[in-house]
Amino acid sequence: MNSSADTPRQVMAPDFYSYEPSAIADITLTETGVILRWSDGASLHCHRFWLRENALGLGGIDPATREGLLDPAELSDDLAIASAAMTVEGHLEISWEPDHALSCYHAGWLRHIADGKHLASSWVPVPAVWTTDDLPKLKTFDAREVIAVPEKRAAMLNELVLHGACLLIRAPTEQGFLQDLAQVIGPLRDSNFGPLWDVRADVTLAGDAKTNTTANTGYRLGPHTDLPTREIPPGFQFLHCLINEAEGGSSTLTDGAAIVAELRESYPEDFELLSTRRWVFFNRGPGIDHRWSAPIIDYSLGNTLPTIRAFYPVRAFPDMPDEDVDGAYKALRRFHQLADDPRFELRFRLSAGDIMCFDNRRILHGRDAFTGEGLRHLQGIYIDRDEILSTARALNRECGGVSI
Ligand SMILES: [Fe+2]
Repeated sequence: MNSSADTPRQVMAPDFYSYEPSAIADITLTETGVILRWSDGASLHCHRFWLRENALGLGGIDPATREGLLDPAELSDDLAIASAAMTVEGHLEISWEPDHALSCYHAGWLRHIADGKHLASSWVPVPAVWTTDDLPKLKTFDAREVIAVPEKRAAMLNELVLHGACLLIRAPTEQGFLQDLAQVIGPLRDSNFGPLWDVRADVTLAGDAKTNTTANTGYRLGPHTDLPTREIPPGFQFLHCLINEAEGGSSTLTDGAAIVAELRESYPEDFELLSTRRWVFFNRGPGIDHRWSAPIIDYSLGNTLPTIRAFYPVRAFPDMPDEDVDGAYKALRRFHQLADDPRFELRFRLSAGDIMCFDNRRILHGRDAFTGEGLRHLQGIYIDRDEILSTARALNRECGGVSI
C-alpha cells in the first residue's frame, strides 16, 4: 500500500522505551486485522482489537501512564479497520470505522514484537543447567562495583539468571550492607524472620529453645531451599559473611535443574514420584502456622525451571495415597543423595566480605556443621525473582543488550 503522509513525523511507542527505525515493507488486510511484513522476511499478525487497545489516545493507551484504558467489554463488533497504510518512515497507520479515528504505530515497536522481544523470557539470558564440571567455581563480582556501576550490576544479574548463583567479594563487613545492595536491585521479600536476618549459632546444645530455625544452630544443613512452606518461596537469597572463624561451616551450592535433568534421564520413576506426589511443608515455630502442600519438584508455578521444595527440617507429612509413600521416600533419598554428590555440588568456604547470591527456588544451598558460638555470622535477605528479572531487563536494555 502507498504512504498516506508526505512529511516525516514523530511517532511515540506505547511504552517508555525508544525504538530504532524498522520500516514495514508490506501490509495485508485480513478478516481479523493486518499482517505486517519486513523486507528480511519477519512478519507480525496484529488483531484489530489488539491494535485498538494499543492506540495512543483514542481511549487505548494513556499517553501519560502508557497503560491500557480500554475495558474489553467496550470492544464492539462494529469496530473495523477501514484502511491500513505505511507512513513515509514505514510506520503503520490505521484508519478506523465507524468513528473515523486515525492511529499510528511505531514500526520499531512492532518489529520488537515480531522478534519476540516483548516476551517474559526476553532481555535476560536463557538459564544454563550446570554440574561442577561446567561450573567448577562461582563467578565473582566486586560488591562495591555492582552497586556503583550499572554495567557491572547487569553482568552480575545476568549471571544470576544464567547459572542461578554468583559470589560478590570485597563487601564491607558492616551489618546491614545487604540493604544497600537491595537499594539498587529491588525491594526485599519479608518473612517471619524479618527483612534482614542473621545466621549464627544461637545455641550450642540441642534442645535449647533460643531459636526456631535449624539455620541458627551449628548443625549441618544438607542441600536445601528456604521456605518451601510458602505458596511461592522467596526467589533469590543473598548471604553476607561478616565473620567466619568457626571450625567447619563450609558452604555448598547445587543446581536443582541439573538434579532434575539427571533424574529425568537416569531415574524416570523417581522423577515421576518427586514431581507429582505432594508433601506438607510446615513451620512449627511458636505463633506461626505457615504450611503448603506441593511436590519436591514443583512445576505448578508455570516456569520451565521447576521450584525445588527441599528443606527437610520443615517437610512434615506425606500428602499422597498411603501406597505411594514407600516409593516417594526412595525417590526422596535419591534426590538428596544426588544433591550432595560432588558431580553436582560446589563446596567452598565463605570469607568475611563475601556475599553468596543464588536463586532459592532453583539452587540448593547447604553448610557443614560448625562449632564456636559467635565465630560464624552471616546476614541474609531475600529478593523475589520478579525484581531480579525486572532490574536485569531494564539494565540490559539501558546498557545495550544482554552481555553473555
Ligand atoms: Fe537456608
